[in-house]
Amino acid sequence: MSSAQWFERAQKVIPGGVNSPVRAFNGVGGTPVYFKAGKGATVQTEDGTELIDFCGSWGPLILGHAREEIVDVVAKAAADGLTFGANTAAEAEFAELITKQIPEMDMVRLVSSGTEAVMSAIRLARGYTGRRKIIKFDGCYHGHSDYLLVASGSGLLTGGTTSSAGVSPAATEEVYVAPYNDLEAVKSILEADGENIAAVIVEPIAGNMGLVEPAEGFLEGLREATSACGTLLIFDEVINGFRLAPTTFGHTIGVEADLTTLGKIIGGGMPIGAFGGSKDIMSSLAPLGPVYQAGTLSGNPVAVAAGMKTLELLRDESPYLKMEILGKKLADGINRIATEKGLDLHCAQKGGMFTPFFRKETVHNLDDSKACDQKAHAAYFHHMLGHGFYTPPSGFEVAFVSAAHTNDHMDAFLEAFSKM
Ligand SMILES: Cc1ncc(COP(=O)(O)O)c(C=O)c1O
Repeated sequence: MSSAQWFERAQKVIPGGVNSPVRAFNGVGGTPVYFKAGKGATVQTEDGTELIDFCGSWGPLILGHAREEIVDVVAKAAADGLTFGANTAAEAEFAELITKQIPEMDMVRLVSSGTEAVMSAIRLARGYTGRRKIIKFDGCYHGHSDYLLVASGSGLLTGGTTSSAGVSPAATEEVYVAPYNDLEAVKSILEADGENIAAVIVEPIAGNMGLVEPAEGFLEGLREATSACGTLLIFDEVINGFRLAPTTFGHTIGVEADLTTLGKIIGGGMPIGAFGGSKDIMSSLAPLGPVYQAGTLSGNPVAVAAGMKTLELLRDESPYLKMEILGKKLADGINRIATEKGLDLHCAQKGGMFTPFFRKETVHNLDDSKACDQKAHAAYFHHMLGHGFYTPPSGFEVAFVSAAHTNDHMDAFLEAFSKM
């Protein structure tokens, strides 16, 4: 059966035919592709085609699809027992490895998704500080928990508005929303209401409005401003963590968050999330402290095995320079072709992450990203898909080059792009 036939069948029993909205291709139109298998940088579809994958399951597959060593440890862990709901030695070893690679984390707790990691970190920040409110940034995505599905409200100093039906306005009233990269906005909110603000949460490199880098001094400024008023700084590194180096982005640039959330890469393709910080803060979690947090499948042995092997391979093989070189080649090539052909776009890139933004001007925040031509992005997506390249089916996402990609893949991508 073709992707179209599967999609038709799925829509009868799954809302919109998908288990996560972006997979419905609403951002680009057309029929979603059904994946059958993946190996390295390529995937096979139900249509019998082979695609070079630049989505990488939205980030976890930094080592490519079905890397043999990871599949082996997953098979072994599964054979030894899929879940115990009790402690395993592997959990302790995994936490040791994470805290060694991320020095700002004395302790870490495992959960089953990025959403859960962030939700738990926010509760911990509230419990630890005894304060209720948080500040987030417009265009940063932190999972789908109630108080993070918030868009900017009518003014900086009012709470945000819900960005989904079903979210209680009471949840979002406690959330201020500032423009990304606008340190002054954060300072004025902290000045006005700092004593009630438990945490500022930010993607240190934003990846959910396309790839948007922090302006010079932005993260350092957040660190300083939050410390000054006893507000915790949370870096959501669900995308960033282990992406550009075998540690957090915060650690790489020397700006330490009080709490850091992780997901995606640390599960190597299995469902996992984690949050961690200093012993002092993490000791507020049950059973040591009063902040409740739990999970039947937390620390699942199969997910831990996949994550452990992934982090070991990243540490030992360090494919980061390779991904940076390939990513830069791609972005430079896209920018060169766009100039030659007079296309109204530029490609943002850092390491293996890239986003072609369909406007010439640099993107600093969500408003800039929204000003891009989404129709042109959709045309690009379908053009590349038609030539055998799978990129994220939304103009507000980051594409990924993995360690399994090669120079030839970049050449082929650019060759196809030049025919746009
Ligand atoms: C920065 C960030 N935080 C949190 C999440 C939520 O993670 P999950 O989809 O695993 O719940 C995402 C998901 O894309 C993310 O990009």
